[in-house]
Amino acid sequence: MKGKKTLRITLLLLFSTSVFMIFQIRCRHDGLNVAALDKVCYQTEIGPIFLRSCATTGCHDSQRGKGGYSFTDYTSVMKAITPFKAQNSTAYKAITGKGFVQLMPPDGALSENERILIRVWIDQGAENTTCTTTGGITTGTGGNTLGTLANKVCFQRDLLPVLLSSCGITGCHDQTTHKSGYNVTSYATVMSNLVKAGSPTTSKLYTVISGSPSSENFMPPKPYTAISTAVKDSIYNWIKNGALNDVCTTLCDTTGVITYQNQISALISKNCISCHTGTNASKGILLDTYTGVKTYLDNGKLLAAVKGTTIQMPPGYKITSCELREIELWKANGAKQN
Ligand code: HEC
Repeated sequence: MKGKKTLRITLLLLFSTSVFMIFQIRCRHDGLNVAALDKVCYQTEIGPIFLRSCATTGCHDSQRGKGGYSFTDYTSVMKAITPFKAQNSTAYKAITGKGFVQLMPPDGALSENERILIRVWIDQGAENTTCTTTGGITTGTGGNTLGTLANKVCFQRDLLPVLLSSCGITGCHDQTTHKSGYNVTSYATVMSNLVKAGSPTTSKLYTVISGSPSSENFMPPKPYTAISTAVKDSIYNWIKNGALNDVCTTLCDTTGVITYQNQISALISKNCISCHTGTNASKGILLDTYTGVKTYLDNGKLLAAVKGTTIQMPPGYKITSCELREIELWKANGAKQN
């Protein structure tokens, strides 16, 4: 009888512990390790967003304080904040439209970056931090790259094409083969087992491309081309800054003069170089120099391949229509080595 009771209590305890653990896991928001990020600065990064977007006259200013909230200074802002708990904070719920009929601000949502900054600031403890330099938003304690919108690495825009053309290729880490269980074809699959947000040196995605090329685990394996130092650094910074899936404006711009230096060589190195360089270049086609690119542009094969009319290049995905247009415009203008 006593044994039965003990068993029942043990089972009950086990059950409640597991429910608690599942709850804990569910509550962790998308793996973002805020403690590892540079401190977001209230005075220069957060306060101005609230002032500009919420404390406007007739809304949450000191006179009106709609709904009992004003966002004019740190003390009043804190009435809508639960430190360390962005998801429970009234202000964060309002700007993300959770639990509210109307998303705030009513005349247009905050940008993805502003929301992320606010969330990281709250989850870091929502302190009244001051920064050394005013005006810029790059100077938290140690330079907060989350705030530097123009310079930061954007997964979709800057990394995914390189990952797709270097790792997510047929027979390797594509959707079908996903060698060793690693699928490198989207943000979700990369985040599932290759990245630990905030910690590049414990993230497989970074360690396998940055070790010694002679090591057994080095990626991409021979005869594929190693990832360039610039891309390696970008991956490092992206992970270090939280491995976010930001929506960024495209850098592709077809309004000015398209040059080999500014647009074409960057586009080719992002999407093609992994297979078209060195002694093992696919089909012996070298696209790592102006001459190489010009040769395949002139014989029509390059454009046909990126359009997918003859063969699909890069294999598995298409460059954006804006990038295609850049190549066409550059060609129409004489495909100069400008
Ligand atoms: C994952 C490796 C890989 C990537 C990335 C890649 N290629 Fe290729 N490419 C190949 C292979 C393999 C072939 C040979 C295919 C064949 O002949 O069946 C090839 C062939 C070509 C050809 C010859 C097509 C023809 O009609 O004979 C061109 C041109 C070409 N690639 C251009 C590009 C360009 C431009 C990019 C980037 C926008 C690119 N490739 C990216 C692997 C790649």
